[in-house]
Amino acid sequence: MSQKPVPHLRVGLIGTGRISDIYLKTCARFPELDITACGSLNPQESRAKAEAFGVPSTGTPDEIIADPQIDCILNLTVPSAHADISIKALTAGKHVYSEKPFATTVADGQRILDLAQAKGLKVGNAPDTFLGGRWQTVRKLIDQGLIGSPTGVMAFVGTHGVERHHPNPDFYYQTGGGPLLDLGPYYLTAMVFLLGPISQVSGMARRTFSRRMIENGPRHGDWMPVEVDTHSQSMIRFSSGVIGTMTMSFDVWDSETPRFEIYGEEGTICIPDPDPVHGANIFQGPVWYRTRAQSRWEFQPRPTGRDDWQLAKTTHGFNEDCRGLGLLDLAYAVRDDRPVRAGGDLAQHVLKVMVGIEESAREGRLVDIDGSCRVPDRLPETFPASENALSVDGAPENSGPACTAPANLMPEDIQNAG
Ligand SMILES: NC(=O)c1ccc[n+]([C@@H]2O[C@H](COP(=O)([O-])OP(=O)(O)OC[C@H]3O[C@@H](n4cnc5c(N)ncnc54)[C@H](O)[C@@H]3O)[C@@H](O)[C@H]2O)c1
Repeated sequence: MSQKPVPHLRVGLIGTGRISDIYLKTCARFPELDITACGSLNPQESRAKAEAFGVPSTGTPDEIIADPQIDCILNLTVPSAHADISIKALTAGKHVYSEKPFATTVADGQRILDLAQAKGLKVGNAPDTFLGGRWQTVRKLIDQGLIGSPTGVMAFVGTHGVERHHPNPDFYYQTGGGPLLDLGPYYLTAMVFLLGPISQVSGMARRTFSRRMIENGPRHGDWMPVEVDTHSQSMIRFSSGVIGTMTMSFDVWDSETPRFEIYGEEGTICIPDPDPVHGANIFQGPVWYRTRAQSRWEFQPRPTGRDDWQLAKTTHGFNEDCRGLGLLDLAYAVRDDRPVRAGGDLAQHVLKVMVGIEESAREGRLVDIDGSCRVPDRLPETFPASENALSVDGAPENSGPACTAPANLMPEDIQNAG
């Protein structure tokens, strides 16, 4: 009986800005992930980050990409640099895991996928929030038939942008930024994970302000030009026949709406408050549901409020911010030569959807989404231990499709919120 060795992925991190801290923390939790070097356009920033997180060395992006001791590039640069860094890394024979969006054009995304395939390398991409306990639980509930056949989905995120908390928010208002490309990946990736590929979209969008002021940090008072639309509304048709609506905005001062809801023939799942300040790292949080049996439509007047929803028991781990979990999955995908859950094909599909929504908004017509994508398997509930556990016949546990749920929901999976 032989067991595969625990993977050891030597990672070079490029882009040591704001989001790199949580990746460095997550990687430090897992012996499978070893960040051996970091770099950026700002050597001073990278040296400080290396010192703070015990990264052994720093270098220029080109030095890190050329380093033969590195297996994978973690690309945490700004959106306009994602494709360039990913393509350089793949060309140098490294696997890549990148922040979102995958690229700023569909053509660049396709170049990344083609190159990875030609070289036999893995490509992963944020967001990986859908691997968190909350979303894995939702998928399990849908797979088990809690709400019957899904019919619709709604996602709403309204913020007033990032200029009050990000010290260098310019890229959010440049090509490759905007709420659709910045926030859309979280919600669209979750939608595809839960409901399957998207086949057609329409959109409307507006740019409310032509310039915006930085309101924090050393550049407080600087004005930034706005090159992208900052309020986007869209309609989404899934290949399964489910239809959805999505609002992503940097122009909303306040709202009671923020939530993500999935409607089915037999019930509703409600994921409250997926707002970017408290929950875009939405690995975690409550999952509510009401089925036909608990519907409030039989009462007159119909009760309102959020107190009497049923609360689903979270069945999966990672109920805290752990960006980088997708990279851990990639390390096992490399070892086992299986698809990456937060994979490039999924990210490219989501990019096509977002570009399609933009095209629809510009041209005033429905846009068909070319191609499809693989829908990731659920994470095993004991991931990553599951990947190294042996079953009696010697095969690693959970090595088969993760998505083989029983037809009926187990009563122990649910409890009353009341
Ligand atoms: N800040 C957040 O809260 C947050 C949250 C989730 C995702 N993200 C995503 O993470 C990515 C980075 O965001 P951030 O907030 O850390 O940005 P940031 O501006 O704080 O840092 C960007 C880093 O990338 C480096 N960089 C830029 N262009 C480069 C190039 N051509 N070559 C090499 N390095 C380059 C910069 O030197 C810097 O180290 C973006 O794609 C963003 O959408 C950010």
